[in-house]
Amino acid sequence: MFFEYADTGSWTSSTYISNENDFKNIKFRQRVARDMSNRSLDVNILGQKINMPLALSPIGICGLQYPNGEILAAKAAEKKGIPFTLSTMSICSIEDVAENTSKPFWFQLYMMKDRSFMDKLIKRAKDANCSALMVTLDLQVMGQRHNDIRNNLEAPPKINLNTIQQFISKPKWCLDMLKAKRLNFGNIMGHVNNVTNLSSLASWTADQFDPTLTWNDIGWIRDRWQGKLILKGIMDKDDAKLAVNAGANAIIVSNHGGRQLDGAPSTISVLSEISEEVKNKIEVHFDGGIRSGQDVLKALSLGAKCTYVGRPYVYGLGAKGQEGVELALDIIYKELDLSMAMCGETDVSKVGIHNLNGNPFKK
Ligand SMILES: Cc1cc2nc3c(=O)[nH]c(=O)nc-3n(C[C@H](O)[C@H](O)[C@H](O)COP(=O)(O)O)c2cc1C
Repeated sequence: MFFEYADTGSWTSSTYISNENDFKNIKFRQRVARDMSNRSLDVNILGQKINMPLALSPIGICGLQYPNGEILAAKAAEKKGIPFTLSTMSICSIEDVAENTSKPFWFQLYMMKDRSFMDKLIKRAKDANCSALMVTLDLQVMGQRHNDIRNNLEAPPKINLNTIQQFISKPKWCLDMLKAKRLNFGNIMGHVNNVTNLSSLASWTADQFDPTLTWNDIGWIRDRWQGKLILKGIMDKDDAKLAVNAGANAIIVSNHGGRQLDGAPSTISVLSEISEEVKNKIEVHFDGGIRSGQDVLKALSLGAKCTYVGRPYVYGLGAKGQEGVELALDIIYKELDLSMAMCGETDVSKVGIHNLNGNPFKK
């Protein structure tokens, strides 16, 4: 049920599928006989030097993919010198991750109706020394994901015939989970009045995503968070301009990995248009459908300054914990490095549209 939670889009999954497929229409411009030694993938993102232009996306309930999953993914990112983003809907709490890592991580915020909880959550992110706050704007209402309905997905999972069958087929997962630090939403449980047990937690969470959220609320957040602010879920150049006006330091061109508006365009197909509009004012980041270092290089060529992966690291985490995430990151690093060289570039920050054989998405 946790694999199916990750491996799905909303409704027909058409946007999820096109996020991946549209990368195939982009072709590199191959160059030869250039000095390809002394290559560097280092970049400066939001004032922070990182080892490649890649970060880990915020992913809900990683701690049910693998025991203490958020802590392990954060450790893998730390080891590879790239940012980890902790989801509001994580199993391990902000404090759990901070206690078990040594570098600052980024925190992703879902705006919820309970503003006093939001106030406290932002303060907790500050106290944990988080170096950026990422506000997700594309989940005021929730897209329907058929797998999760069929599996009756909850954290922790309910015990019924379906889940018992799934547990029996994964005995190692069950044994490991019994030793895990936490099994429910660590950022919420114990931090909200009247949420003291699992059933009150479930109904509180379901009711909390705030459909009234507008750009004014970004001002409310800005008053409480003076650090780096990333706005996630931008798919339109007009919204990108509004994000600049709202005081963001970066936007993420993202459609939530195809899990929200089914029928929205792929992220890669709108990236260059949005980047051209605002890249001189704020950093343009990108996620959705990246499955290789070649995909990272394509996104950089079309105007992204930083990219993110969601599912590729979640699959590594589910299979092998921290080692699996590290392996996924090593694979992407190597593919990016070699493909960049074959395009005749040695410095990743110089990659641009000149490295492509045209822009298939230019209108
Ligand atoms: C299983 C899963 C859980 C997610 N949970 C969150 C979340 O809690 N907060 C958020 O802002 N985005 C969430 N996302 C969206 C990701 O942050 C990211 O936008 C998306 O995964 C990128 O696409 P990719 O998986 O194709 O790399 C989730 C995505 C997946 C697959």
